[in-house]
Amino acid sequence: YLFLHNDKLKASESFKDSYLLNGTSLYEVVRVINGKAIFLSEHYSRLTKSAQKIGVKITHDFSQLVKCIEILVEKNDCKDGNIKLVFSFKDKERNFYAYFVRHSYPTAFQYENGVRTIIHQAERPTPTAKVYNHKLRSKTNNLIAEAEIFEVILLNKLGNVTEGSRSNLFFIRNNELYTSPDHEVLNGIVRGKVIQIAKELSIPIHFKSIPYEELPLYDAVFLTGTSPMILPVKRINSLSFTADHQLLSAIMDAYCKLVNEN
Ligand code: PDD
Repeated sequence: YLFLHNDKLKASESFKDSYLLNGTSLYEVVRVINGKAIFLSEHYSRLTKSAQKIGVKITHDFSQLVKCIEILVEKNDCKDGNIKLVFSFKDKERNFYAYFVRHSYPTAFQYENGVRTIIHQAERPTPTAKVYNHKLRSKTNNLIAEAEIFEVILLNKLGNVTEGSRSNLFFIRNNELYTSPDHEVLNGIVRGKVIQIAKELSIPIHFKSIPYEELPLYDAVFLTGTSPMILPVKRINSLSFTADHQLLSAIMDAYCKLVNEN
């Protein structure tokens, strides 16, 4: 794949991951469907907020990012996938990289039956800003591969089940939604859409910490994220949940509609 470095198109052989480890980086992973980045303005707004938080300025405005994505789609002749946008800041040096990344989209079978997950005790270094967390990510990637599961669910120091290693979590009980408070998790773009959908469909939603011991109380669990979109969870460790839940289907349908309208 061809990638962009500071708006110049380069061959993938010259791409060095070590570029990204210099200094501080902010990144976004956006989903491209049919040549168009889904919810790009939401990603851009999260990016600028994170930049503000760490006292840096994003070098590109929204229309420049749109242009970069168009170039990558066209030059790679690739209309569907995930594109990673990385902004790195080191002293006065600014670098911007944009490139297609590997992804693991769930299969139709997984959407229908749910996926298996396991619990892993870990803290996100920065709960709200999308700042690099390579160490945590590589550890959880290994776990995912070894255990043949779709996702690792993070358990924080307080014993709360917060989010996946690359997704957010929702729980259903008595036809009401539960999710961790904003400050405990990464504020996922898809999570934001589910919250919006809950409001539109008048589904009661509770923002509360979910202790591990409480898990058996819930009927259904699902995760959200740029790659999985909205995906039922059938297992967390040995606990089982249903993937066939009316509320979950309604939310999945509403999300598909939002994607199609985008
Ligand atoms: N990860 N929580 C964590 C820890 C994440 O890394 C991600 C996304 C999410 C979901 O956020 P969103 O709905 O905006 O994709 C939640 C991406 C895709 C990644 O870094 O690869």
